[in-house]
Amino acid sequence: MRKIKVMTVFGTRPEAIKMAPLALELADRPEFEAICCVTAQHREMLDSVLNIFRLKPNYDLNIMEPRQTLSTITAKCLNGMDGVLEEARPDLVLVHGDTSTTFAGALAAFYHKIPVGHVEAGLRTWDKWSPYPEEINRRLVGSIADLHFCPTASNRENLAREDIRKNVFITGNTVIDALQTTVVKDFTFSEEILNQLDYVNQKVILVTCHRRENYGQPMTGIMTALRRVADAFPGTELVYPVHLSPVVQEAAHRYLDNHPRIHLTAPLDVREMHNLMARCHLVMTDSGGLQEEAPALGKPVLVLRRETERPEAVTAGTVRLVGVEEEDIFQMASTLLSNHAEYNQMAHAANPYGDGHACRRIADAITWHFGLCETPPEEFMEHRL
Ligand code: UD1
Ligand code: UDP
Repeated sequence: MRKIKVMTVFGTRPEAIKMAPLALELADRPEFEAICCVTAQHREMLDSVLNIFRLKPNYDLNIMEPRQTLSTITAKCLNGMDGVLEEARPDLVLVHGDTSTTFAGALAAFYHKIPVGHVEAGLRTWDKWSPYPEEINRRLVGSIADLHFCPTASNRENLAREDIRKNVFITGNTVIDALQTTVVKDFTFSEEILNQLDYVNQKVILVTCHRRENYGQPMTGIMTALRRVADAFPGTELVYPVHLSPVVQEAAHRYLDNHPRIHLTAPLDVREMHNLMARCHLVMTDSGGLQEEAPALGKPVLVLRRETERPEAVTAGTVRLVGVEEEDIFQMASTLLSNHAEYNQMAHAANPYGDGHACRRIADAITWHFGLCETPPEEFMEHRL
């Protein structure tokens, strides 16, 4: 049987977490010759994911530098991809989401006239500047891609608004596939403080914050609000694994250091992160991935952004958009920490993003597209757990 040569391309932590289960699925199936190229837009945070999923890339562009600019990342990825694509000559390149790696990977494949599949397609805020630069990255990739793998039905509707209607598949999000392999009942953390926390009698709040559009004043507002929450509620413990971006490191340490119940840690590996999320009381974040994972684990999320491209969990009632103003964040967190009814209303498992079979559907769609099977893949239908 002719094998379809599929190259997965990714470079940052969230892309790696969401592409790893897909790379493994492709490697497992006889229809594919699976190869993997990492740009290493992130270095340590990428390597941590590669280790956990035991993925060994065939190509590693190793492009990361401290405080890298968007132009440098894009240019280095494009240059690096040239040689890789010339040598490997895949039948299909798969990119994920909306990072600089995603955009450059898709563009490089297009320059080499290689078809592109876009995983996590169709997310939109319709605001060019937020998230920055991700909203434009995903629109550009949407116009380059030949196959579009949408997590949800509303993502497909977004693509239709841009007249993209061909080869669009609703698959669910591969992050739910990943989540199903990481959360276990008795988990021992390697960060000792996480083993010592009292998850039953204390309210553990998991925090992350890293987005570029939040650099500066918004991040100051967020950090100040977090400290006020810790001060006002002695029954809380805040755990914030700080992203390695020097801008984020500086802000987090400036505003949150030296508080007995605020714990700034190094980035957690993905198993530690998912198991911490499964045990915490509340999530406060500007992360995209956490907005998808926490609802599946029944944890309320306060989104520290002005908009979200993930409205499904807002509709399901487990996520609230609070913005980046100090007072708004403090007030909303205070409500959830003091009002049981409000909290309980949000704390139910909702899973609008996937059922754990997204990777299988994506692989099935590819075999169908390349004429190796006769039926299109079944679509993911949103359901509640
Ligand atoms: C990138 C993505 C963003 C995604 C985020 C996930 C773009 C434009 N942005 O943003 O969509 O939400 O990743 O985390 O692609 N660093 C290290 N080691 C690492 C990782 C990062 O030192 O393992 C530091 C470096 O100094 C680097 C900086 O973090 O220059 C910023 O990384 P970069 O990939 O440029 O942007 P992110 O803000 O991480
Ligand atoms: N994550 C992790 N360790 C951390 C912080 C996040 O493993 O210390 C995981 C998280 O569970 C999710 C993904 O990284 O799967 C989200 O990445 P990030 O927030 O960096 O990017 P975004 O999703 O906002 O693009």
